[in-house]
Amino acid sequence: MNRLLRSLCLVLAAFGAAVPVLGAAPVTFSEHIAPIIFKSCSGCHRAGEAAPFTLENYRDIAKRGEQIAKVTASRQMPPWHATSGDFAFENDRRLNPAQIELLAKWVREGMAEGDATKLPPLPRFTAGWQLGQPDLVVKMRKPHAIPAEGRDQYRLFTLPLNLAEDRWVKAIEFRPSAPRVVHHSLFYYDSTGMAKGMDGVAGQIGFRGMLRNQNGVGPLGGWAVGATPRTLPEGMAYRVPRGSDLVLSTHFHPTGKAESEQSTVGIYFAKEAPRSVFTALQLPPAFGALSAVDIPAGADKYTVTDTFEMPVAVEAFGISGHMHYIGRTLEMTATLPDGTVRKLVGIDHWDFSWQEQYDFQKFVSLPQGTRLSVKLTWDNSAANPRNPSHPPRRVRWGPQSEDEMGAITLMVKVKDRDDQATLEKSQQDHARQVLKSSATRAAAGGGGQLVAGLLRANDRNRDGKLARDEAPGWLTPLFARLDSNRDGVLDGSELEAGRNRWLTPGNPPPSAP
Ligand code: HEC
Repeated sequence: MNRLLRSLCLVLAAFGAAVPVLGAAPVTFSEHIAPIIFKSCSGCHRAGEAAPFTLENYRDIAKRGEQIAKVTASRQMPPWHATSGDFAFENDRRLNPAQIELLAKWVREGMAEGDATKLPPLPRFTAGWQLGQPDLVVKMRKPHAIPAEGRDQYRLFTLPLNLAEDRWVKAIEFRPSAPRVVHHSLFYYDSTGMAKGMDGVAGQIGFRGMLRNQNGVGPLGGWAVGATPRTLPEGMAYRVPRGSDLVLSTHFHPTGKAESEQSTVGIYFAKEAPRSVFTALQLPPAFGALSAVDIPAGADKYTVTDTFEMPVAVEAFGISGHMHYIGRTLEMTATLPDGTVRKLVGIDHWDFSWQEQYDFQKFVSLPQGTRLSVKLTWDNSAANPRNPSHPPRRVRWGPQSEDEMGAITLMVKVKDRDDQATLEKSQQDHARQVLKSSATRAAAGGGGQLVAGLLRANDRNRDGKLARDEAPGWLTPLFARLDSNRDGVLDGSELEAGRNRWLTPGNPPPSAP
């Protein structure tokens, strides 16, 4: 094969085409390796970013050659946890096999630098706000200290937005001040004042725990290491009620050096009300709170499944998974009305540290009658290196990282705006259905557990009862009916009575009035 053809093959390989690497071609840093690393690694492995060291020049990269060959071959790097489904994702970071082989070959052959004049320039990374000057910039009022060592920390911070009217938000850009220690941050609005009330009470900025899912609180997306900030697809925006606070739920990963974090957040408003509304369709609902997740010590493949039939036609644009430490796999498929099965996402090696949302490159059409199926597995065996308990202990659903949760959230917009109410109604029905069937299982296994789990997860003031503002969103429409003694709170016996009523044959689960 002539030289020209050979270098063409290498150029193609470097650009991502799966061309076999030719045995005889000398692999050099300047020509072959730099283009791969600069494009796929330097964005995170540079000063001021999340990765622990820089990969920006020959010295940096040759010094870690062996390790680079190893982590790329194992696909630990670049980080990317979704396996190929049937739909391409935006910003897919994965290297192709030809690129991985090229890196390995370069290291095997002694890491030649090659002709420095052939070195491509480092990409020009945008400094500052990636989406341009935000409409509103808010900042944590004080830094939060993270010690050098110890366990990961989860903490929520309340940032007042002082909105005089309801606004539509189309993007949020998050800028950590100590990027090496912030692993991810999930955003919420809170118009109830609940977060503000808890913030700083222990003398330190922020608070621990979780934001209740209730009326007046809603998600606004999130940020994870290496994520490119993004705007919601055209015509969509989050509604944020006036007077809301922004709440950041941030995961810190100690780095060996004491750090202090004071995040800044840029908010981009839509000029006009959105043309389409979107919904976060979560399966199983409420991160599995209704599915009676109860994982025996040692179980290496505890499984929860859920299915939902789409009552109306929708278009999906993003998908994300959530589990805690011992989560192992997540998968969501769509069975179309004609019987075709399409994989929307698969995560074969769940890693709690990487909570990412994957955006589909194009809208995925899911016609009315599509069945979504979700399968989640957990590994609570001693052989799971991520298991925080030695020996393993029984793990149930709960808000702490040592408890478990699990769900896949699919972001969809209804094809026809008039269908939105139908979709929301059937989500609520579905939540009740899931609760009913897990209650059946719990009852078969001796009972009480479901109500206990509900209280454990929601009873903030630990008085053994659920007040209206403690009740999760799906329970709100049933509240009055369950509160049989009309004292404004649901005690254990009222919750048990509700559960038993739905379990009686012939009694359908209650629906919203
Ligand atoms: C999205 C950001 C991101 C990208 C892209 C990325 N890295 Fe990393 N890398 C990290 C972070 C963060 C760590 C620290 C370990 C962790 O949190 O997983 C890391 C750690 C590493 C390590 C140390 C692994 C260990 O076990 O200690 C190596 C080697 C590495 N990266 C190489 C690469 C190479 C080579 C590429 C490109 C092919 C790459 N990384 C792309 C963020 C990134």
